[in-house]
Amino acid sequence: MSKASSRSTWSNRWAFILVTIGSAVGLGNIWKFSYIAGASEGSVGVFIVVYMACVALIGLPLLMAEILIGRRGRGNPVAAMLNTAKESNNSSWWALLGWVGIFGALMILSFYSVVSGWMVDYFWQYLVKGVQVNTPEETRVAYEAMMADPRRLVFWHTVFMVLTAGVVARGVVSGIEIANKIMMPLLFLILILLTLWGAVAGDMPAALRFMFNLKIEAVKPGVVIDGMGHAFFSLSLGMGAIMAYGSYVDKQTNIGHTCLWIAVVGALIGLLCGAAIFSLTFGYGLTPSTGPGLILQTLPLAFSDMPGGRVFAIFFFLLVIFAAWTSSISLLEPFVSWLTERFGIRRAFAAWGTALPVWLLGVAVCLSFNEWAEFKVLGRILFEVLDQLATRFMMPLSGLAIAIYVGWRLGKVIVVDEIQLKQRTFTLWFNVLRFVVPVGITLVFLYELVLRDWFG
Ligand code: PHE
Repeated sequence: MSKASSRSTWSNRWAFILVTIGSAVGLGNIWKFSYIAGASEGSVGVFIVVYMACVALIGLPLLMAEILIGRRGRGNPVAAMLNTAKESNNSSWWALLGWVGIFGALMILSFYSVVSGWMVDYFWQYLVKGVQVNTPEETRVAYEAMMADPRRLVFWHTVFMVLTAGVVARGVVSGIEIANKIMMPLLFLILILLTLWGAVAGDMPAALRFMFNLKIEAVKPGVVIDGMGHAFFSLSLGMGAIMAYGSYVDKQTNIGHTCLWIAVVGALIGLLCGAAIFSLTFGYGLTPSTGPGLILQTLPLAFSDMPGGRVFAIFFFLLVIFAAWTSSISLLEPFVSWLTERFGIRRAFAAWGTALPVWLLGVAVCLSFNEWAEFKVLGRILFEVLDQLATRFMMPLSGLAIAIYVGWRLGKVIVVDEIQLKQRTFTLWFNVLRFVVPVGITLVFLYELVLRDWFG
């Protein structure tokens, strides 16, 4: 069998939409969104507006561009870049972009798995004994006890890594696709319940006021780049994940329509989660600016107070775990597909072999919260270094390069052939990709680096 014909493809267009939404919706929407928004108190509105504008004007066009490269190049991110570069007579240096993607994804996975581990820990606690906390002080103490215990962090990080590698090891269709088909519908269901509960028991008007309060004067340094970075993070852009998933898309799927679905549903779920979480936070008189532990320091109090709160908590953490799991799978897949295609290694072997070093880096991340907390780079612990390096720099810069590549280097013939859109829509997308995306990303960087004391 030739290499091309042995490549897997998703069962159908909906399967592809589902797995991509599965990749997009994750800790980013639930944990990261609420904690960055909470941390930019006073300028949350600006963060959210920048985020939504970036999803529409930068994220959506790039999503299409990444899938285009994956499908045209028919290979893992490195191979896809090489193949398309060759086809369009461009330098093979462009493959660097694929490298940045597959390594960047592993870097994200290392801390992503640790944070997911916190969620599994809380899930387990609610499942076996229930958690009864009565004051904000008690939730904080409970959270800090977990963070101070490296063994506990490493244990749940290990569990989560095993879950992730287990699915990737099973393959594209029988592992990744099936996992998504089971988890995503459940995730939608639990999310709707959570939002309804947020509206009933929480303070939705306060949440919305908090989220959409546009006080331009109060904008803090970093808020604008965080808004853009978050659009990248929450759409899984620039890290090879979408490119790898795109490489399993068949020729019949319409990239434009599919991406519209993914971006709209992804952003909507993000905002819904935010509204539900903040509504509960305010409804229980808590403050949203507690940092990465936000949902773990606020929600348990709400759970303790509601009838059937323990069951609800179990479902809530299940939702977070499912969301995180379907995303972490897409973080591991790009590198694994490169290993299997480049060296002909068995998938299972490649998946476990990649998971091991990533797990090790994750152990260092666990330690950065306690034993190694004093090791800082620019005032940041390892966890923050990895997160901010990926989200603020690697993702947007790799997005910039992708826009230049597809917009200016690949050649219109290939692009038109892959993106089956009506003439006018196509022109609109193509021009946004060529001008708005690069200019937008550059402006955000200039604004933050030149106008704000960003590293201060
Ligand atoms: N989009 C995922 C989330 O929001 C994270 C992710 C980033 C996944 C990059 C893949 C690639 O949680």
